[in-house]
Amino acid sequence: MNDSTHKRGFTGASVVAGLAIVGLLGAVGTAAIVGSTAADPVLYASGDNPGKIAGPDKCAECHPKESEAWQTTHHHATFIDLPRDDKAREIADKMGIRRIKADSTCLSCHFTVQGATEMEPISGISCESCHGAGEDWIDIHSTNADGADRETETEAQRIVRIEAAVAKGMLSPMDLYTVAENCYQCHTAPNEKLVNTGGHPAGSNFDLVAWSQGEIRHNFNRTDNTSNAPADQDTLRVMFVLGKMLDLEYGARGLAGATESKDYAKAMAQRTNRALKQLGQVNGIVEIPQITTMLGALEAGDLKLNNSEKLLAAADAIKAAARDFAANNDGSGLAALDKFVPGEDKWKGSAHGG
Ligand code: HEC
Ligand code: HEC
Ligand code: HEC
Ligand code: HEC
Repeated sequence: MNDSTHKRGFTGASVVAGLAIVGLLGAVGTAAIVGSTAADPVLYASGDNPGKIAGPDKCAECHPKESEAWQTTHHHATFIDLPRDDKAREIADKMGIRRIKADSTCLSCHFTVQGATEMEPISGISCESCHGAGEDWIDIHSTNADGADRETETEAQRIVRIEAAVAKGMLSPMDLYTVAENCYQCHTAPNEKLVNTGGHPAGSNFDLVAWSQGEIRHNFNRTDNTSNAPADQDTLRVMFVLGKMLDLEYGARGLAGATESKDYAKAMAQRTNRALKQLGQVNGIVEIPQITTMLGALEAGDLKLNNSEKLLAAADAIKAAARDFAANNDGSGLAALDKFVPGEDKWKGSAHGG
């Protein structure tokens, strides 16, 4: 399995000594303390494996409806739009990047990159940015190894088929934590220099339900291609809670990598603090043991610079609990949360072929 914790630009634990502990959550205008000297590695989305990228045209051969839906998204459009965008140019200039589509930091979140040696951006954020680079699992996920006909296979055979693909790098929606985690690795914008020096947005105001059920949605498979079905209400409840858990985990990880008391650290601290409060509220409505574990691992007082060890340990504990929650709670006992789960009027963009 692809343990991708640090893949999209986390600089890892801060090793900068001597940082003052500052009130990141307050509006304290603390002056910059130390410049970041951390490396700024260019790591790629798409399972970090450009050599194994088949490309969205390959997926479209068997998934034409999913492909059509994807082509209406911002994820698709960024390929053409980003290099022409004034704000993008401004960010790139501040980062010292000459060509956005050349080997730059921007590729890791805005593009799908293909090639074993020459890295070529071939599209925006595409199928394999979210489902993993496909070369090693495309055949496996679409054919049953024991010769069963896919049309008549049992559920157990289907699970064996998908698990075999997962073992080869597929990120399957059957493992909700992993597919959802992927969104947060880009949407929390975990790159201090990009935010503080480049002036890039410090992550999205992301909600897993609202942001996955609108323009991003492409659930044709489950209805035999007759419609683009939203996730069912039980799953939406699980996604709602899981999204807050991921804000907590990725906020804590992002803050652990922060070296200066500026926009980046503040945004990460605020994201984490908001998630702490929201999860506390959820637990007051329906007690969820994994939330109790998380609230024991991290508290508002931990949200400060120069506290990486504690923050990373907490993030790892939160990750384990979030995985456990997503795998073992089917949402049927969470109906009390329904009034908080974003309804259709809040979904981001509209789903294609709904
Ligand atoms: C040769 C045809 C073919 C190609 C090419 C193909 N798929 Fe599939 N895909 C299938 C079939 C068949 C299924 C199974 C449908 C079912 O389970 O009912 C499937 C199912 C899936 C699922 C759902 C599996 C699950 O976990 O339930 C995902 C996600 C998926 N494909 C993604 C992709 C992506 C991404 C690509 C390109 C990298 C791709 N597929 C390329 C045929 C294909
Ligand atoms: C860590 C992932 C990540 C990296 C790296 C990244 N971006 Fe982004 N970018 C995002 C996300 C997520 C959004 C959507 C933010 C939102 O919800 O408004 C975004 C949005 C943008 C926008 C739209 C902002 C606006 O004000 O509307 C621009 C422009 C942009 N990025 C430029 C760049 C450039 C240029 C680079 C390379 C120097 C880059 N990005 C690198 C994740 C990233
Ligand atoms: C590889 C990085 C990456 C991954 C993974 C990713 N996104 Fe994005 N997403 C972006 C970037 C970058 C943008 C901004 C694109 C632009 O407009 O230039 C964006 C934009 C969006 C938008 C449009 C926002 C708007 O302004 O209307 C939605 C909705 C969205 N993402 C949802 C998701 C969901 C849900 C997931 C996970 C299932 C996800 N994203 C995974 C990078 C990513
Ligand atoms: C932004 C991330 C993202 C991108 C891009 C993306 N997917 Fe998905 N995909 C998901 C998520 C998340 C789910 C599960 C959604 C849910 O349960 O509501 C999913 C579900 C699926 C399924 C199962 C649908 C069902 O009915 O159960 C298939 C098949 C699939 N994707 C194929 C593709 C193909 C092919 C592409 C490219 C054309 C693609 N995906 C692009 C995130 C993504």
